Amino acid sequence: MCGIFAVVNDKTNHAAQTVLAGLKKLEYRGYDSWGIAIKPTSLTPGVQKLQVEKHIGKIGEAKTNLPEGTIAIGHTRWATHGGVTDENAHPHLDCSGKLAVIHNGIVENYLEFKEELIKKDHQFSSETDTEVIAHLIEEKVKHQNLVSAVFKTFNDLVGSNAIGVIDFESEIIIAARNGSPLVIGVDEINHQYFLGSDVPAFLKYTNKVHFLDDGEAVVITKTGIKLFDLKTGKEKKLNWQTLDWKLEDAEKAGFPHFLLKEIHEQKETITKAALINEKEILEMAKLIRQGYKTVFIGCGTASYCALAGKYFFANAGITSENYGAYEYLPFLKFTNNKTLLITISQSGETADTLIASKAAKKRGAIIVAVVNARGSTLERMADIVLPVGAGPEIAVVSTKAFTAQLATLYLLTTAITNKYDEGKNKINKLADVLKDWLNPVLINQLIDTAKSLMKEEHIYVIGKHLNYPATLEFALKIKETSYLHAEAFAAGELKHGVITLIQKNTPCFVLASNDETKNEILSSTAELKARGGRIIGVAPFESPEFDELIKTPDLGDLTIFGNIIVGQLLGYYLGIGRGADPDKPRNLAKSVTVK
Ligand code: M6R
Repeated sequence: MCGIFAVVNDKTNHAAQTVLAGLKKLEYRGYDSWGIAIKPTSLTPGVQKLQVEKHIGKIGEAKTNLPEGTIAIGHTRWATHGGVTDENAHPHLDCSGKLAVIHNGIVENYLEFKEELIKKDHQFSSETDTEVIAHLIEEKVKHQNLVSAVFKTFNDLVGSNAIGVIDFESEIIIAARNGSPLVIGVDEINHQYFLGSDVPAFLKYTNKVHFLDDGEAVVITKTGIKLFDLKTGKEKKLNWQTLDWKLEDAEKAGFPHFLLKEIHEQKETITKAALINEKEILEMAKLIRQGYKTVFIGCGTASYCALAGKYFFANAGITSENYGAYEYLPFLKFTNNKTLLITISQSGETADTLIASKAAKKRGAIIVAVVNARGSTLERMADIVLPVGAGPEIAVVSTKAFTAQLATLYLLTTAITNKYDEGKNKINKLADVLKDWLNPVLINQLIDTAKSLMKEEHIYVIGKHLNYPATLEFALKIKETSYLHAEAFAAGELKHGVITLIQKNTPCFVLASNDETKNEILSSTAELKARGGRIIGVAPFESPEFDELIKTPDLGDLTIFGNIIVGQLLGYYLGIGRGADPDKPRNLAKSVTVK
């Protein structure tokens, strides 16, 4: 996944600075390297080319020395083809230096193009698949106008892609989408036009947006934006919408990192999730009561949410299935027009989730998207959309989107058993309780716990029933944010092998709730303690089995929310202590748009 950003009519005449600032907002999409191409306002005599600056490394503190100009494109990269080098960073130029391309996706057939282009004497300066796009357009533009050359080139690419192209001569930007997100924004007051992979890039200037669909392209000139169908070349009507996102949503608001801000925002976002989607949730509840089979799918954190959904349903006496979306295809044959496929995704752009959803849709399943980001591919292909309303999640690691999705699945469960209002009250109470609980005393305790774990190499997390998906998410937060090996197990699994790993002082977190699982989880805890483990309870009750207790609010089946938030915060403070970047963990991308 990479970040694309472009501006036309930059009112400051510092388009490169505007693009750099926008790319910083997209850094969560890729942070190996970055680059900008601009048409300068004043041209150096004899230099009729775009000016380009590219660097490896994070964009956070970067500055640009590019000259003044009103039109520029930029890119922040998460490497796929070609190592992390200045040369491989985007934008990529054609041989003339008058055309530059930024790209998000993978051109699966790039090698065959590259061979042909080399035979025609095109000079390549990178190892990327992207560079072929610039040279393909250069080749085609010899025989047709630029717009159709770009459209034709894009239509020939195999794979999921989005591109942005800047042309020196005509001073236009052309962008096209097939499988990777693109959104345009218009600042009507200043006549500035923006292109981005995601809205936060230009939220500072406008919240009036059009999300491109697959098979669509835009041509952005100084006088406006036109939308086209890529296959027919025919102009289409733009579908502008005004989002309720505010600039502050994409700022750190005084927090040192987005991750910490987003963890704390859960005090509000969980309640917000309970205020929306009532109509859709009740409609789904009806279908499930009519006998539709529910299948939950997702990847990573979203897959743990899917698993929690299965436990919520089971507790309410409703059967369901769940799969990691990447493991769903063997089970596709059991999907039909009586299946409700509940797909969970923060971004709505995760390739594995999209592939599974498309395949299920073909078999007649009703697709439900439980998504956070707006305008995504998943949202557009779904039959029922449950946006969870957590606002832009900028940190790569998912937190507030996850708990908003969890709250949404909980509400759905209560709706099926005709207890929707009760469910809503419980979610509202949860949010109130979290406000009190997330106080400086708790935070100091978590910082001390994190300090005591800083030099550990392995930690283990156990939980039972609803606390099992909670342990998986807890351990993932620790791994992602601090690079400390954390492994989650269902408590019952322990004695079947894992217990060999427990030695004197091995840190063991025990996630528990005050429910029917309490005695059993405490028995498993005793087994860990007997092997010398350092037992840290994360629970709403005390127990002699715990060496330490991080006390969480006692909220019945919603206790897991507090238990998970402990993992989020510990991950954050461990990450800080171990020198990781909590907002941008190594090797990760915010949404994984490749298979
Ligand atoms: O955007 P999605 O929710 O579909 O993303 C799914 C996973 O890639 C994502 O949850 C991932 O596991 C994150 N690193 C979690 O913090």
